[in-house]
Amino acid sequence: MSNGEDPRIEELRERREAARLGGGTAAIQKQHDRGKLTAHERVDLFVDEGTFEEMDPFKVHRCREFGMEAKRFPGDGVITGLGRVNGRVTAIFAQDFTVFGGSLSGANAEKVCKLMDTAMKLGCPIIGLNDSGGARIQEGVVSLGGYADIFLRNTLASGVVPQLSGVLGPCAGGAVYSPAITDLIVMVDKTSYMYVTGPAVVKTVTHEEVTHEELGGAASHNERSGVAHFRVPEDAACIALLKQILSYLPQNNTEMPPAGPGTDDPNRMDEKLNSIVPTDPNKPYDMREVLRSVVDDGKFLEVHEHYAGNIVIGFAHLGGRVVGLVGNQPAVLAGCLDVDASVKAARFVRLCDCFNIPLVTFEDVPGFLPGTHQEWNGIIKHGAKLLYAYCEATVPKLTVITRKAYGGAYDVMSSKHIRGDYNVAWPTAEVAVMGAKGAVEIIFRREIAAAEDKEAEAARLEADYREQFANPYVAAERGYLDDVIEPRRTRPKLIAALAMLETKRDSNPPKKHGNIPL
Ligand code: HXC
Repeated sequence: MSNGEDPRIEELRERREAARLGGGTAAIQKQHDRGKLTAHERVDLFVDEGTFEEMDPFKVHRCREFGMEAKRFPGDGVITGLGRVNGRVTAIFAQDFTVFGGSLSGANAEKVCKLMDTAMKLGCPIIGLNDSGGARIQEGVVSLGGYADIFLRNTLASGVVPQLSGVLGPCAGGAVYSPAITDLIVMVDKTSYMYVTGPAVVKTVTHEEVTHEELGGAASHNERSGVAHFRVPEDAACIALLKQILSYLPQNNTEMPPAGPGTDDPNRMDEKLNSIVPTDPNKPYDMREVLRSVVDDGKFLEVHEHYAGNIVIGFAHLGGRVVGLVGNQPAVLAGCLDVDASVKAARFVRLCDCFNIPLVTFEDVPGFLPGTHQEWNGIIKHGAKLLYAYCEATVPKLTVITRKAYGGAYDVMSSKHIRGDYNVAWPTAEVAVMGAKGAVEIIFRREIAAAEDKEAEAARLEADYREQFANPYVAAERGYLDDVIEPRRTRPKLIAALAMLETKRDSNPPKKHGNIPL
């Protein structure tokens, strides 16, 4: 070297450059041709510029079977490291499909485990960008062991640090269980798929003909199975969304989520809310409109948008504080709680509780959905999940009853009885065991049967029942509601309550863990 530099320094540069190329230029081109970014490009997009510190870029597999000793790529098909995302330390692993299809080798699993262990020590989120053909077939059980090592860490990290998964390519076989344990999954349309067994095996076993996309694509998992929480059109959108989700989450379970911009006037009222609930109790309205009107700048990151539309969940800011919103949606299935809605909301309630995110519940629920389909699919145990989740949650819990709060669903939806902190209703609320029609048909069956004009008698009794029970005041008289408020004042009231609840301390009895009805 003319400048006197030790040649080994140049060697390091060359090795690093080779590592960055993963499986080589042809494989990178193939990745691009499919509309996918490479693992390095994804990481570069994810982190604040110049902040990524890669770990183990030179690590290689130790497999000697099937001529593998001749095929060794530095990094071995996964990029791991720490970087800053909007200034906050974040652990990231990105599977590199250009190296053995991103498949998981023993060495590859060790890298991911090392990263996860570091994240647990630092107390920072773990983000997985999945794009892999699954277990490294040449390594057999070593690969399976590697997966199990990751699953264990996913489980131990659950509720300690946020874990998010992007699925940006294949994610098949047992590999799906790592993302499945994480808190939220984002899938990319058309290029990603998740399934336990692929179309070929499905055909052999069940004789069904199904494509990758139909079986496990982003649409299937967002709309049908509920496995994924978000779908996005392409890789860059996936990265942007993961960053946005992180902005609502704390670094770990001992911290609070970061504050939002807090520029929206906390005393802002919305006159529209005073007339948003139709006078006819059977007429729907869109609960999303209520949520958007109340939260800061009308911004609401909906989670599971395409699944169980009868309940709406998501993150927003209220007076600059992050909140988790749960709203029954009268515009879908009249806002009834069914199996899917219960499971969807229960997991979200627990996610918020893990990470110190106050829960704000907007309630308009006529009850649990009746029918054999629901009963035989276990609405009892699934509905119990939501009840259990709300009961055990110790974060601040605020509830606004906009209209119906009927039956068991009244209890479930963060009622005062299960440690709701601030429970209010709009004057349009009906807090009762059931709707007037159903109630009258049961308790006045004989009277109606004996009446000359049955319809008129039923209508009279219904009106009477409504007058007596279909209002918020019976519950307010008992102290089951803290107040009845004008709808337009909802935002200032909730913000004031949240501020007061900032010092809330509550806990559950010491135990190994509860036994939520799974
Ligand atoms: C080793 C693999 C691999 C794997 C892909 N490759 N998957 N190498 N182990 N699991 C290699 C290919 O040999 C190929 O290498 C390169 O990656 C790209 O793969 P292609 O097949 O050319 O890509 P594509 O056509 O896009 O198909 C992608 C694919 C397919 C659908 C993922 O590769 C595939 O079916 N792979 C096997 C999937 C699988 O059965 N995995 C095991 C699942 S069981 P070259 O050198 O030709 O470029 C499992 C159990 C986990 O994962 C259990 C955990 C508990």
